[in-house]
This record gives sequence, structure tokens and C-alpha cells, in this order.
Amino acid sequence: MEILGIDVGGSGIKGAIVNLTTGELTSERHRISTPRPATPENIAKTIKELVNHFNWKGDVGCGFPTPLQHGKCQTGGNLHKDWKNTQVDVLFKKETGNDFYIINDADAAGLSEMNFGAGKDVKGVVIMITIGTGIGSGLFLDGKLLPNSELGHVLYKNGEIFEKYASDAARKRDDLSKKQWGKRLHEYFQHINFILSPDLFIVGGGASKKLAKFEKQIDIETKIVPAKAENNAGIIGAALAAKYKLK
Ligand code: BGC
Repeated sequence: MEILGIDVGGSGIKGAIVNLTTGELTSERHRISTPRPATPENIAKTIKELVNHFNWKGDVGCGFPTPLQHGKCQTGGNLHKDWKNTQVDVLFKKETGNDFYIINDADAAGLSEMNFGAGKDVKGVVIMITIGTGIGSGLFLDGKLLPNSELGHVLYKNGEIFEKYASDAARKRDDLSKKQWGKRLHEYFQHINFILSPDLFIVGGGASKKLAKFEKQIDIETKIVPAKAENNAGIIGAALAAKYKLK
């Protein structure tokens, strides 16, 4: 079985056709820069461009980088305020004619890792943390997803959220050295570890490739590993959401 998976991100919108038996991409990955402003209208056009690029006729799975409930944006996140209350599957279906299954981007990355990657066959509580423009999370118990968690929004101090302190965007904004960033990530993981006592952390997003550089600074007992599919986990997990018809 093959499905088109799309991963909407703050800087790029990426798609590929995914073999859902093996979890491998069976097409080249195609990336289009996220249009600015990243309004519903502009992103819907980019989604149509991607669907046309693959000449795709069937269901599409799509990872989306905002807080969601049943495919409806709770806020516009790092995209645009106009996404608030948008029913994303309805919008994309209107634009393309295809049926869409919308899942939070970090939930998607986690789903991919639990099925094919670092979380395969891991029992207990597994937490996927994606670190990029934002910080996203996916929570799993015995491989089953508890959707819509927003652990990047845990408060840090003075009403500020951890995402604004420890994301890759924060690293760039504050021009942090590896050591300084590692210290912030340590504080973050230590806090989440204390709150949820998971059995395993999987790190995804752009930071999955860099984990080796700051891993030693994250001094917690819980095991912490990079996503096996690195940045493709979001695409693969999005396709899985369509396979399982998650709503
Ligand atoms: C959003 C999450 C998303 C994360 C990573 C956060 O700002 O609230 O829903 O998963 O960014 O894209």
C-alpha cells in the first residue's frame, strides 16, 4: 500500500509517496518553501502544487505544525493567525479534490518512529520531541498515540514557553553555542522527564541530525535517541495517519 505523505513545516512543505509496509519513500522527496505570509489560502495552493507534482489521485496524509483537534487548528502556531479554527482537511479537499487526513506534525513523526524506527516494539511511555522552528511532541503508550499533546508549550518562566527558549529558532535568534543550546535542552528534557517519567525519548525534526553534538549535555537517566528516519519521519507518519484514517 502506498500513500502520499506531506509534512507542512515553518520553512518548507515536503512530500513523498510512502510504502506503508516498509516505511520507505518510493518517490523522490519534493520540497517547496513555505509561502509567506503562511495563510490558509497560500498554503492550500502549495498543497495543490505538491499533489499535482505527484499526480496523486487518492487519500493524502498531512502533518501540520499547529495545535490541532480532529483536524481543526486551535491556533495558527508559527504559521499565521488566520489558521485559528480552520478545518484543515476540508480546506485542502476543497483545493485539491483529494481526501485529507490531518495530524499534528510531531504526532506524525512519532507514529513513524513507533511503526518503523527507534520506537518499534518499545513498550511503556515513549515521547517524541521534535525540535525545529518550534518544539512539538508526540506521546505513546505501548505504541498507541495519545494525540494533540503540546509539550513545547510547557511554561518555562515569566509566562514564557520552553519553545521560545530551547527551539532551533531560539538557538539562531540568541546565537547560541552548542554548549549554551545544550544547557537549555538539558533543562527542557529534565523538566519533561520529571513530569512524565517516560521509558524513552526520541528526538526528531532538524535537531535529530545534531543530537550527537548535544546529547552528552542532556544528563537524564531516561534513554534519548535520534529519530531513525531523521527528517522524513514527518512524511512517513503523515502517510500512516491516512492509512489508519485518523481524524
Ligand atoms: C506547535 C506544535 C508543533 C510544533 C512543531 C509548535 O509551535 O504548537 O503543534 O508540533 O510547533 O512544529
